Amino acid sequence: MLNETTGAAPDGLPFRLITLRNDAGMVVTLMDWGATLLSARVPLNDGSVREALLGCATPEHYIEQTAYLGASIGRYANRIAKSQFTLNGQTWTLTPSQGENQLHGGKEGFDKRRWRIERQNDSEALLSLTSQDGDQGFPGNLNASVLYRLGEDNRLAIEYRATTDKPCPVNLTNHAYFNLDGEQSDVRNHTLQLLADDYLPVDAMGIPTGGLKSVAQTSFDFRQPKTVAADFLSEEDQRVVNGYDHAFLLQAQGDISKPAAQVWSADKKLQMAVYTTAPALQFYSGNFLEGTPARGNATYGAWQGLALESELLPDSPNRPDFPQPDCVLQPGDEYVSLTEYHFIPA
Ligand code: BGC
Repeated sequence: MLNETTGAAPDGLPFRLITLRNDAGMVVTLMDWGATLLSARVPLNDGSVREALLGCATPEHYIEQTAYLGASIGRYANRIAKSQFTLNGQTWTLTPSQGENQLHGGKEGFDKRRWRIERQNDSEALLSLTSQDGDQGFPGNLNASVLYRLGEDNRLAIEYRATTDKPCPVNLTNHAYFNLDGEQSDVRNHTLQLLADDYLPVDAMGIPTGGLKSVAQTSFDFRQPKTVAADFLSEEDQRVVNGYDHAFLLQAQGDISKPAAQVWSADKKLQMAVYTTAPALQFYSGNFLEGTPARGNATYGAWQGLALESELLPDSPNRPDFPQPDCVLQPGDEYVSLTEYHFIPA
């Protein structure tokens, strides 16, 4: 289903809203602005329906927030240090968006663009975006697309694709925040399993300080499920960024058939399994959500939502040493990144 709002987006035109639904009763809504996920309502076994995603009261409110709620992020998710990288001997300077660094693709990243709706029906929607050569400082004309697909088993698949006419680093993701308790509650009471042996320590600006570090004997060890609260802020690596805001290199190594993460609501009525072809997940515990517009007349507080963003490791254009596929997309090749969020009522 496709609807238009009466309110206008920054380009003066209405927001276009798309609704996906399945026979199990799950309903997902998204909009063309930022190819943003607005809502994911999951029917529970007790007959109630639970909103699993953080979101704002109206599409217009999304323009005011800086948390990237549900948005599509590009060209490069996460940070590129000093907004610079060198490719084939040439240095490229990008538009900074967090201090001197670039976060989430620059000041006018893909989250702030109107995506074209190519096609949509009850179960899937394909949106696309053309990013011009030089956009936010990146080389090459980039054609990007995202396919949202809702399965009958309550699996929400998000598939990003891109092609370019000049070599360019590409790292596309969706910045959904989840609270599986369906309310404005402390998400640190969720239980998390992250199937990752290594994480990437960062400085206060979120830039990797060195290389990967084993999670063993640290607060970053989520290989056995534990609450986010269990070891919260117990180590300096967390304290520098107010909690968890780190990339984890996944055991699955891009194998979509192997789970990357599992999350359980505090009341255990809803579980979510995450699968991805990306090498890493950024686990962000919502440390800076304070003041973000919520539904109704409310605002979110810190730690009321968590994000599990499928990505390449941060700053990889400057870190060829990282053990992951090359982050540079070449002309003639296609970038494909598929992530599935599978909602399981318990
Ligand atoms: C980053 C956080 C940032 C958040 C919202 C996450 O992907 O890692 O540091 O605060 O996005 O911008």
